[in-house]
Amino acid sequence: MTSHPFYLDCDTGIDDALALAYLLASPQADVQGIGTVSGNVSAAVGARNTLDLLQLAGHAHIPVALGAHDPLAGSFGGGAPWVHGENGIGEVALSASAVGLAAETAAEMLVRLAHQHPGTLRVLAIGPLSNIAEALRLEPELPRLVEEITIMGGAALAPGNITPVAEANIANDPEAAALVLSADWDITLVPLDVTMANVLEESHRQELLASSGPVPRALGEMLGYYFRFYEGIYGRPCSAMHDPLAAALAVGAVKPALAPVVRAAVDTSSGPGRGQTVCDMRGLYAGYPEVKGARCRVVLSLEEEFAPHLVDALLDFFEDGEGTTAALASAGSAA
Ligand code: RIB
Ligand code: CA
Repeated sequence: MTSHPFYLDCDTGIDDALALAYLLASPQADVQGIGTVSGNVSAAVGARNTLDLLQLAGHAHIPVALGAHDPLAGSFGGGAPWVHGENGIGEVALSASAVGLAAETAAEMLVRLAHQHPGTLRVLAIGPLSNIAEALRLEPELPRLVEEITIMGGAALAPGNITPVAEANIANDPEAAALVLSADWDITLVPLDVTMANVLEESHRQELLASSGPVPRALGEMLGYYFRFYEGIYGRPCSAMHDPLAAALAVGAVKPALAPVVRAAVDTSSGPGRGQTVCDMRGLYAGYPEVKGARCRVVLSLEEEFAPHLVDALLDFFEDGEGTTAALASAGSAA
């Protein structure tokens, strides 16, 4: 199985933590570096969570770079503690990693990795797109150096989750998202249309909690907090699977059922549409014929249910495989 070099850009975040663990568990992904950005929490808190999670998972060697604290316009709004907890990981206390941050910014790390792996680096962006926009400014050739970019963000036909039309990652830095979506590359967009339709149930959470591995157990505890927020939306304890689903699509472990390639733009006005991903979905009426010049593959549905795959992948790796040994040897346990 081919393993692709990956750069992960995140705002860790409960579902970011799941995505990170999933990537570590994926034989198709070789995570070369991680950058953080303010979103669910500040970029600094997200970096701390990422370092601690990497240590718990026995992957403390993966470098973590601090990224943008503020969006391109305006300033960081304070995150989403009502969704992810004050510490971003559902108030779960992880052992503090002794590893420090990389001596480069997240955008610099992305540019460096793109030059080290020309044509093969895959980028997975699961937070606001501030760092990716900055990397495009630093290296205008980035679209030709990167093999693929997958973005969790936006809403194509579905409503938003932070305004009636805007999804959080895009709404937290619309100017950056507009730059990234209009750059000269093909994008896979994983919007709310598909992430809200793929939920993790309480039975899945119990499977994680029952694991002998500290990583699945910590994720199960974090999900308890996340489920309480999503219970207000779905009416039962469960949650959407935004970021891990984007990770699974980026590594190619799950396949889209419907993913039209369309033109997509971001509303950067100051009106009620600010942060909306304006995806041209008119092809719906004609079965989505090919559109000349369209670059954005918008994942609308999957071939198979995602949650069982996610849980199996995490349990297989962190209970039976390399992850268990590494995690137990290096990490201690989650509180
Ligand atoms: O809207 C969902 C996205 O916003 C996810 O990436 C979540 O972690 C937050 O960043
Ligand atoms: Ca995220």
